[in-house]
Amino acid sequence: MSNTNELYTTVSQMMQGGKGLLAADESDATAGKRLEIAGLPNQAGNRQDFREIMFTAPGIEEFLSGVILYDSTLRESTDKGVPFADVLAARGIVPGIKVDMGTKPLPNQPGDVYTQGLDNLDERMREYYNLGARFAKWRMVVTISENTPSDAALEVNATQLALYALICQQANIVPMVEPEVLFQGTHSIERAEEVTTRVLQILFATLKKYHVDLKGLILKSSFVLAGDQHPKQSTPEEVASATLRTFHLGVPREVGGIVFLSGGQTPKRSTENLQAIAAFGKQPWPITFSYSRALEEPVLLAWQGKMENITLAQKALLYRAKMNGLAQLGKYDAARDTDKK
Ligand code: 13P
Repeated sequence: MSNTNELYTTVSQMMQGGKGLLAADESDATAGKRLEIAGLPNQAGNRQDFREIMFTAPGIEEFLSGVILYDSTLRESTDKGVPFADVLAARGIVPGIKVDMGTKPLPNQPGDVYTQGLDNLDERMREYYNLGARFAKWRMVVTISENTPSDAALEVNATQLALYALICQQANIVPMVEPEVLFQGTHSIERAEEVTTRVLQILFATLKKYHVDLKGLILKSSFVLAGDQHPKQSTPEEVASATLRTFHLGVPREVGGIVFLSGGQTPKRSTENLQAIAAFGKQPWPITFSYSRALEEPVLLAWQGKMENITLAQKALLYRAKMNGLAQLGKYDAARDTDKK
């Protein structure tokens, strides 16, 4: 039986002012791409060291309210044998779990994909709860091109997200629904706005149809911005106004919170966009960050796989989390940010 009080408590723990989330939920394969930045091979020991450095960084609980883990990471422990989920929970950081299993091409819809992972999800969810996870993440992927996304793709992905969210809530796990509209492409910001609005409208109409409890749910969204190949890159003010217009048209007021992915933007640009959104003032939903690359890249660059750099790497995480915590409050000043990009 789902316990709505528990879901709402988890949402409020995750959506605290001045804090946000770290998405450390790369699959084992994707973690290899991160480790390359530190010059390390993709081995289980290196993945574990990388996560341990981040999860034990002194002071991060001041700026991080949650961390998203991957299946293998949720089962891992520190060198001293303390499960990562316990390390985080003891610091007041809510452990979460990515539960989707990636995407496959959607037949007869060239360029569109659908997400894998619903089979036995109820059983996996019970196990994840017992391992300490209190929220989960499922990602649908939207590519903007002349012919994508099709309505068929948006509908099938929304239906999958609805079923996933119901299964989460039944297990007392807060669903984070993530429709990622990819930033990679030649599209304009206007086209990104039109597509994201449509994605959100179809998604929330479907979530309502399936009676998902929107107060016990968090939306993980991309920023609305021009594609990385578009000649004119969007300013933070343009991003903020397009993104907020989209949310006001597509996201019901009762949704528990909205968090952003960084999507391949630089760490600084991701922070600037969040700051520009906060500068618009109070919104119907709490809004914060849930970055992977934009928080992890400075850590990997500082670490370089060397024992003697661990403290530096932990400071790099603390610093980036602090900058984003300030941006969540609308108090970030890019000119005083000492990270270069
Ligand atoms: P990025 O911040 O690197 O986009 O990752 C966040 C995420 O959770 C993507 O699914």
